[in-house]
Amino acid sequence: MNSPHLSHRRRRVLYVIACGSPLARNVGRLVDLAQQDSWDVCVVTTPDGAKFVDRASLARQTGHPVRTHYKNPGDPDVLPPADAMLVCPATVNTVNKWAAGIADTLALGLLIEAQGLAVPIAAVPYTNSAMAAHPAFRASLDRLREWGVRMVFGDHVVPLHPPGTGERHVDAFPWEVGLAALRGTPRPAAPVG
Ligand SMILES: Cc1cc2nc3c(=O)[nH]c(=O)nc-3n(C[C@H](O)[C@H](O)[C@H](O)COP(=O)(O)O)c2cc1C
Repeated sequence: MNSPHLSHRRRRVLYVIACGSPLARNVGRLVDLAQQDSWDVCVVTTPDGAKFVDRASLARQTGHPVRTHYKNPGDPDVLPPADAMLVCPATVNTVNKWAAGIADTLALGLLIEAQGLAVPIAAVPYTNSAMAAHPAFRASLDRLREWGVRMVFGDHVVPLHPPGTGERHVDAFPWEVGLAALRGTPRPAAPVG
């Protein structure tokens, strides 16, 4: 039986942010694992990430609409505030823009604001060996790490694949690594409702 005290504590909200990679097609697996970890999950995609996901299925799975674009002025917020964010898959493009403070997609705007609010953030980049070799990407990873982002990247996570072969490796992706990086993050201080 739930204790009355615990039943008043709201579930922690995790924004899963999916960028434009074929890996985003399977982001429902991450949602499933996060829900098993007791997160209330909301999915946000970049405009290119939206091309890969099944919005209706993710909305059913999470109970929240999938958001991609900034709302119009005056529109209400449809998602609860985030207690943590996990960017997975994170593209080279989004990582570089994020490190430069560019907020031209909803996903980036949320991330940049979250950093200012000290919301815990983890990111799992997924890309090929050629794109990963670009010096700007390496510099962006270092900057974001320095600023406290839990950047989960390297051959120990996912070995880099040759260009054009990303689709072949999606089934072997270890979806739990980003969630593991967020474990131990503080719970919200006050219960809501
Ligand atoms: C089929 C396809 C697969 C792609 N896979 C990746 C990928 O795995 N990683 C990556 O960094 N970029 C990948 N890209 C490139 C990104 O989709 C592109 O840079 C896009 O601008 C990313 O936008 P976003 O960062 O806003 O999601 C892929 C592009 C296409 C068309």
